[in-house]
Amino acid sequence: MRRPNVTVLGGGSWGSAIASIAARNAPTLLWARDEATVADINERHVNSRYLDDLPLNPALRATNDLEHAIATADVLVLGVPSQACRGVLTEAAEHLRPWVPIVSLVKGLEQGSRLRITEVVRETLPGHPVGVLNGPNIAREIAAGYAAAATLAMPDQQQAESLQNLLRSTMFRVYTSTDVVGVEVAGALKNIFAIATGFGDGLEAGDNTRAMVITRSLRELSRLGVAMGGHEQTFSGLAGMGDLIATCTSPHSRNRRVGIRLAQGKTLPEIEAELKQVAEGVKSAPVVMELSREHGVEMPIAREVDAVLNHGQTAVRAYRGLLREAPEHE
Ligand code: 13P
Repeated sequence: MRRPNVTVLGGGSWGSAIASIAARNAPTLLWARDEATVADINERHVNSRYLDDLPLNPALRATNDLEHAIATADVLVLGVPSQACRGVLTEAAEHLRPWVPIVSLVKGLEQGSRLRITEVVRETLPGHPVGVLNGPNIAREIAAGYAAAATLAMPDQQQAESLQNLLRSTMFRVYTSTDVVGVEVAGALKNIFAIATGFGDGLEAGDNTRAMVITRSLRELSRLGVAMGGHEQTFSGLAGMGDLIATCTSPHSRNRRVGIRLAQGKTLPEIEAELKQVAEGVKSAPVVMELSREHGVEMPIAREVDAVLNHGQTAVRAYRGLLREAPEHE
């Protein structure tokens, strides 16, 4: 049987790392807007903009021709920033064959519509099976070949199992699930809590504080996730607790770095200029506040993060708020 063509949309760090894994298993094409990234991947087998000189699989090809990348896809993997998804998918719509399954790598929510990205996919590309891959996946560690794992959730278990074979390697284990909502919500929410943990780390609050924030964050994340339709056990798995721990503790996390730098007195525009990448939690914090109101779920940690990002609150005051408002019973 012919191996399916995989197309990965997005030349950022995670899109490139997953595309490099997929290229071991099937012909894989990465679409990036940036011409220098395309040349880097095709000629030097690296993505020096986001992954320094970590070697990518030489079989991986890149293009900036979206129509070609979409028209040849048997499987589509979506790895562009959340707020760019609708635009790219709308451009892609007329070129994609109808039965092609789509896997989102995106850990964010769409502002305005408040939709999860798989819901944005369903609106822009109706009729396609769509799911999500999420876990504690710091891209540069996976590109460097360190052991890691993720959960691939598709509505259909059999489809999850066939896609699992395309996206895994000996060092990157992929588990399957049918809880698309839970896996997706966990991926979007953990970024906000990584910003909260960053506040504590930037204020040098210590290890107890970090552990408290991560643990309480897991509770907030699970409550909203269950209210939105996710399964409780998903939140203690790789996509929930796993990704929360990685993102809240990694020096490579963009979201945690945003929190640290805000606590050190930098402004958001200064931090974004320094990062040169999107920290999804900044975009999803106000959306999560709306969702928490809609579902009647109290989220004191997320609320403090949103207050610092969008309402002139300082990280020091946010920490006092968090501690003051902590309930007496778990
Ligand atoms: P950041 O976007 O904060 O770097 O998160 C990385 C991540 O999602 C690890 O699983």
